[in-house]
Amino acid sequence: MSVWRVKPVSAFEADMKKSDLKRVLTKWGLTSLGIGAIIGGGIFTLTGIAAHDYAGPALALAFVIAGIGCMFASLCYAEFASVLPVEGSAYAYAYGTVGELFAWFIGWNLILEYMMGATTVAVAWSGYFVKLLHLFGLNFPIQWCNDLATATEKCAELGLDAPSFAFNLPAFIITWLVTGVLVKGIKEAANTNNIIVIVKVVVVLFVIVVGAFYINTDNWTPFIPAEIKSIGENGHETVKFGFGGVLTAATIVFFAYIGFDAVSTQAGEAINPKKDVPFAIIASLIICTVLYILVSLVLTGMVKYDQLDKAAPVASAFSGIGINWAVFIITIAATAGLTSVMLVMMLGQTRIFLGMAKDGLLPKGLFGALHPVFKTPYKSTILVGLIISIVAALTPIDKVSEMCSMGTLLAFAMVCVAVMILRYKKPELERPYRTPAVYLIGTLGVLFNIFLMTQVRAATWKFFIIWGILGIIVYFAYSRRNSNLHKVD
Ligand code: ALA
Repeated sequence: MSVWRVKPVSAFEADMKKSDLKRVLTKWGLTSLGIGAIIGGGIFTLTGIAAHDYAGPALALAFVIAGIGCMFASLCYAEFASVLPVEGSAYAYAYGTVGELFAWFIGWNLILEYMMGATTVAVAWSGYFVKLLHLFGLNFPIQWCNDLATATEKCAELGLDAPSFAFNLPAFIITWLVTGVLVKGIKEAANTNNIIVIVKVVVVLFVIVVGAFYINTDNWTPFIPAEIKSIGENGHETVKFGFGGVLTAATIVFFAYIGFDAVSTQAGEAINPKKDVPFAIIASLIICTVLYILVSLVLTGMVKYDQLDKAAPVASAFSGIGINWAVFIITIAATAGLTSVMLVMMLGQTRIFLGMAKDGLLPKGLFGALHPVFKTPYKSTILVGLIISIVAALTPIDKVSEMCSMGTLLAFAMVCVAVMILRYKKPELERPYRTPAVYLIGTLGVLFNIFLMTQVRAATWKFFIIWGILGIIVYFAYSRRNSNLHKVD
């Protein structure tokens, strides 16, 4: 059956030799890209709701749970990246092991991870940017920095008339600025990212070190607040706190870890991809996990969890203890930090499209064309920028972030499956990095990621299924017939 055709590893190697992308990224440059993609909206925004509503001081435990699950996936990604260091990431790994339809389906879901991830972060960026202007005494009109639904909600809270139109202008503009940097080149993108990553990590360390002096250990008890069950307006039961609440918090903060896998999409631009990409995947995840756990302990130690601000928990924890100047620094760093998440997510998306276009599953003229001077896939970068800018300007953040998590969880689970299949089918392949206890780690990775998918809202599942069906239609209508392997069949 042609939908199960597999792209031979030798074909990947031939593609790598032909690649026109510039090889400029070092081991730490790749690690920095990983950190650039990971630290963002998750730690600066979602920790608020996760601690306030679901985990209390056990926010740190939620980060440990989500982090362990991501660690399984990252170890599987690392082995693949060492065997197939190509820009297609999980899509390419599946193509080399399970078959074309499976690979296409992963690629289709990675669109959710990368495009919806970048969209979520564009909206979060807008929120922080507006906050920053506010600190300088400037106020942005509500309907020009929100989508219509959110603007209507905010106007109602303030007792203002509902607007008839709304457009998130900062989210729109930042997307085009990032698009411009990406068209210009990977080197510029990597340099911009490096600077932002330094700012971001310094501020996170600042939060940990300075915040540690203001910890009141009483705030940590009880570590897991007693469970509260309630029935919402829609008739669904909500569990807050208790161990169930901690699990829900883990699904929320999972978003904070997304991004380590983006390193694998930069394999085509790495100087020594077989060794450095696995290193960077694991190193960036470990560094961020440690930082996240420490930030969680500090935040919930500084302020009682029910006093944490849901929109800007990190900044507000410092204003809560009277260090107002820190609020400036944290808001500036968060605004800059979110830019680098967008940068890497959008970069990843265009590289995955490039991988798929090279294989003939997407139109080569649009997704495979490299700029004659900059050597970047400029047409697809502009298309990705266009879609993200419009969706970000018009859609509420929670809708897009959940779709992002769904796509990512499925991709993680599928990579865990694929790494076990490759080990079984081709044990003889040279593997500069080998996942330890691969069948155990792979199985745990699948179970963990599927479990988290079951925790996502029903409405998101509906959209996810529609997206999947659409993907299958596109595959049979276009990709299957235009696949390079089809021509060989
Ligand atoms: N991990 C990234 C963030 O938290 C997606 O913004």
